[in-house]
Amino acid sequence: MAKLNVNGKAREFEAEPDTPLLWVLREQLSLTGTKYGCGIAQCGACTVHIDGAPVRSCVRPLASLSGQEKIVTIEGLSKNGSHPVQKAWAKLDVPQCGFCQSGMIMAVTALLKTKPNPSDADIDAAVTNICRCGTYNRVRAAIKVVAKGGATKMAKLAIQHADGSTT
Ligand code: FES
Ligand code: FES
Repeated sequence: MAKLNVNGKAREFEAEPDTPLLWVLREQLSLTGTKYGCGIAQCGACTVHIDGAPVRSCVRPLASLSGQEKIVTIEGLSKNGSHPVQKAWAKLDVPQCGFCQSGMIMAVTALLKTKPNPSDADIDAAVTNICRCGTYNRVRAAIKVVAKGGATKMAKLAIQHADGSTT
């Protein structure tokens, strides 16, 4: 029996140690918001947070996790789409087909927590996710909307966990 802390909950499940985290999330835990694109850490569709850092879950085997890490998926970002990044995405109609957008949003939320007012170069360096619909310009514009929200909105970027901690 394996254990992981996902979206603030302790989850137990059966999986082989070499199973990528992406498939644990999707198949064992039914968290299907995280998508499979390439399987080789290139597209970013599978991006989740591990202890606040963006990770491409398709290449992260279960055996590499202790069970103590705080894993957050798109489902754990907010209960109702109220996270500032999600609101900016809705305001600017960022998604087209939507397939890449969970990973895109997770990469952006991680960036904004470390760089609340990122430059274009910061965005280019941190958000390397691939979008075949070409939403890159709107992604950039939505990041600027969140950044312009200032300190009050930035405080809301923190993801709350059940034990009272944030990442
Ligand atoms: S599916 Fe993981 S980076 Fe493409
Ligand atoms: S919105 Fe379609 S792949 Fe990005």
